[in-house]
Amino acid sequence: MKVGNRHYRTIWLNDDGRTIDIIDQRWLPHEFRIVNLRNVEQVAVAIRDMWVRGAPLIGVTAAYGMAIAAAEDASDAHLEKTWEYLNETRPTAINLRWALNEMLATLKPLAEGDRAARAYERAFEIANEDVELNRSIGRNGLEVIRKIAATKKPGEPVNILTHCNAGWLATVDYGTATAPIYLATEEGIPVHVYVDETRPRNQGAQLTAWELNGHGVPHTLIVDNAGGHLMQHGEVDMVIVGTDRTTSRGDVCNKIGTYLKALAAKDNGVPFYVALPSPTIDWTVDDGVAEIPIEERDDREVTHVQGKTEDGKTVSVRISPEGTPGANPAFDVTPARLITGLITERGIAVASTEGLKALFPERS
Ligand code: MRU
Repeated sequence: MKVGNRHYRTIWLNDDGRTIDIIDQRWLPHEFRIVNLRNVEQVAVAIRDMWVRGAPLIGVTAAYGMAIAAAEDASDAHLEKTWEYLNETRPTAINLRWALNEMLATLKPLAEGDRAARAYERAFEIANEDVELNRSIGRNGLEVIRKIAATKKPGEPVNILTHCNAGWLATVDYGTATAPIYLATEEGIPVHVYVDETRPRNQGAQLTAWELNGHGVPHTLIVDNAGGHLMQHGEVDMVIVGTDRTTSRGDVCNKIGTYLKALAAKDNGVPFYVALPSPTIDWTVDDGVAEIPIEERDDREVTHVQGKTEDGKTVSVRISPEGTPGANPAFDVTPARLITGLITERGIAVASTEGLKALFPERS
């Protein structure tokens, strides 16, 4: 998407043909920094410490990490070691393991001498596929927005609430939850987005608000606890969120706090949609609450907040007493029964085993 006058993706191959460039998301919205990742260790740090984040982008970054590994040493042993190493960086988003598996399956049948070139090619293909998946999700989600818009008075916006950042910054381009919003805006449908701040790391306040601001989409930042109140007062027409892992029966794991939004939406009859590309479906898992590993992050993310001072320094400030411990589960699971529909690249599925299998019959 555009930043200033230039179109950016979140990740691309450097001109040297060997290393990768990323948007370092830790500094947004205050600074737009691009960083070059030269080796597998740097790729691992970038994923673990969330220089890049969002399930699809984590996957693509790991795919390029495998390509860098193949350029260093294309042996089975090195590729398998890299698979293990990168797979440990973040445990919840299934796109990471999906992309690593995809790379290994592509490279292993090849002669060692052919692997590096093919690895870069495959990583680029995965990146391009992500963009295409998101465009399709956008078109399918747009149908829902159009239908709601048709019930509105002329000029009255469709009010959409979103949580965390499932925008273009979380993918290679366009985003999942934001793709229908961007398409609706292009089509001239008035939309207005309520952006949950998304504590503890504030991906809503820092990233989603930055994106929407940059693309002229009317939006309002709200604290995480405001969603239920707004829904009770008819201020939200629909919720769209992303997901880090969706199970074969349609349970959705996403950023912590998503579940509470889904409960509030159910109680208030507000449609709750989840936008996802098929690599986010973990067909091996059924019961999301019982089976999905939830990433537990440093409690410093809870006890501190990051912001920018008047004189331009990015600082981290303690907000709780010294000695008060924090707990920081990064994701939660929204059971399928609370979900109105799963917006995929193939269409909108009912969040159930049958619903997903109807769209992905090859998985039956
Ligand atoms: O911890 P993060 O910032 O990687 O979490 C991101 C999310 O929870 C997104 O909603 C999810 O990855 C879907 S992104 C299209």
